[in-house]
Amino acid sequence: MKRTLGVCYYPEHWPEEKWAEDAARMAALGLTWVRIGEFAWSRMEPEPGRFDWDWLDRAIAVLGGAGLKVVLGTPTATPPRWMLDRHPDMLAVDAQGRPRGFGSRRHYCFSHRGYRTECARIVTELAQRYGRNPHVAAWQTDNEYGCHDTVLSYSEAAKTAFREWLAQRYQSPQALNRAWGNVFWSMEYSSFDEVGLPNLTVTEANPSHTMAFRRFASDEVAEFNRVQTQIIRKFSAAPIAHNYMGRITEFDHFAVGADLDIASWDAYPLGFLSDRLEVSAEHKRRFVRQGDPDFQAFHHDLYRAVGRGRWWIMEQQPGPVNWAPWNADPLPGMARLWAWEAFAHGAEAVCYFRWRQAPFAQEQMHAGLLRPDSAPAQAFEEAGKVAQELAAMPDVGTARADVALVFDYASAWAWQTQPQGRDFDYFRLVFAFYRGLRRLGLNVDIVPPDVADLSGYRLVLAPGVATLSDAFLGALKAFKGAALIGPRSNAKTVEFATPVPLPPNLPGLDAVVARVESLPPDVPVPLEGGGNLLHWREKIETGAEVVERAADGWPALIRSGGLHYLGGWPEDAVLDRMLTALCERQGISVEVLPEGLRRRDTDTHRFWFNYNPVPVEWGGVVIPPAGVHWEAL
Ligand code: GAL
Repeated sequence: MKRTLGVCYYPEHWPEEKWAEDAARMAALGLTWVRIGEFAWSRMEPEPGRFDWDWLDRAIAVLGGAGLKVVLGTPTATPPRWMLDRHPDMLAVDAQGRPRGFGSRRHYCFSHRGYRTECARIVTELAQRYGRNPHVAAWQTDNEYGCHDTVLSYSEAAKTAFREWLAQRYQSPQALNRAWGNVFWSMEYSSFDEVGLPNLTVTEANPSHTMAFRRFASDEVAEFNRVQTQIIRKFSAAPIAHNYMGRITEFDHFAVGADLDIASWDAYPLGFLSDRLEVSAEHKRRFVRQGDPDFQAFHHDLYRAVGRGRWWIMEQQPGPVNWAPWNADPLPGMARLWAWEAFAHGAEAVCYFRWRQAPFAQEQMHAGLLRPDSAPAQAFEEAGKVAQELAAMPDVGTARADVALVFDYASAWAWQTQPQGRDFDYFRLVFAFYRGLRRLGLNVDIVPPDVADLSGYRLVLAPGVATLSDAFLGALKAFKGAALIGPRSNAKTVEFATPVPLPPNLPGLDAVVARVESLPPDVPVPLEGGGNLLHWREKIETGAEVVERAADGWPALIRSGGLHYLGGWPEDAVLDRMLTALCERQGISVEVLPEGLRRRDTDTHRFWFNYNPVPVEWGGVVIPPAGVHWEAL
């Protein structure tokens, strides 16, 4: 398959006279895709029921006429102001009970049925009009579900829909009471209409209640999206994507992905390093202009799984962004490195955000490929270089990894609902394991929690999965490789109770987690073999082989055959030791990489990415800062 580049463009932001020149420059730069439309509802439908498609017809014709393929976005992330007059109660409500206001974007509640109908209406109009347009070659639904903390809404609409969802799930209030353990604190209900949302309770709500609400909220996103995909498919054969974000776990991306043809995500490496990673100040300083060396790769691998093999970058940071606590300028070369890293992880397309920096409104400090005066910005040349390199490069393919790492959104909700220790964050835990694998130079496949077939992998990791699915447990039984389960895996039932027999309750492993403790970060649990567990440790009673033991005598890592259970959160050096031993045992060759240098193999090539601000010499090759190096395999 030919890998391609693209850009995000907002024709409605620019005088029409500029469109043709813009389109010609995009094509000349070597871009294939142009994504448009996703925020333009107020121009598509200036008044309720009065549509203006002429400008969009012309924009698509101009872009398509220049040889570009259009990704057309549905505009449902930005309902126009008049929508609020029609549906004054459509706004999401925060946990404190305050409605979120008009004046930016994503101002809607996923559960508002009236708004959903409005979305169905505009998507129908759009799909009907452009479904057979030869230039419209892909679709995007909405924009970044969950961004700006918009999944959980405590509105009246959400309450009504939640009660319906509960009635479906439990059939009777008595069954709900039993499932949640509502006898505790006299929380029993005699009708679904008595059940409220789990906010504004005096102290914490029943975790089963909260978890049910989290599952419901996630289902609402999937349903909201499905309304759109079903309509688009009636009128168009072009593939449908959604642009997901980095480290957003409030809804199950796999569930939404099941209705899409392509998963895509919006990669802002410098913004993410600045605002959503638990790393040292030294790490942030070192990578301030390059981004974290593993954060993008993690999401590439995650979205490859969400898209069942098909994934894109819909928005790639081109220069400083506007929204992080600090907004550094990327090192020259990073806009190229980021794109190549995505291709090495199997991306079909990488689209830069955005074509020209807007001189007005919220994102005027956000760089584009062009400056506001239309002169090329730094990333313009770099995008051109990638386009030339792509043209010269035969398809790089996507290699299957030896290692699979489970990622489970419900576990993120579970450990937010009941962290039991301030530092216990699911994403943080899984990402620590992912980083460990990357430090060893390994390709990783991220797999969903209901993965039913693990054959083909040699090592499988499932840290922190609150409830192991029957599918996964079945796959594990048949699995011939090594598995590392834990910490805190299989520790809750689906209804969020403590299972008896006690965790981990893994077939063939004689082990019981007798007690757990969480600890402040400056209270480590030393291991006999050196290094520490941090944040979380479990005291395991076991007859199985003890591979690693804490200095106080309690087993930390145990195994029976290939099945391992880990009873704590290992610090990086310990994780490296454990992962190296597991890989050696499985015959997976590892290469301990220098800081900031990362490796990825495809079917045909080995790629090296130097995230460091300094050159790195490796394998006889000097890779410059922000450099990419590849060799045919
Ligand atoms: C994304 C969003 C874009 C733009 C961009 C700025 O989250 O999808 O519309 O706002 O951030 O970095």
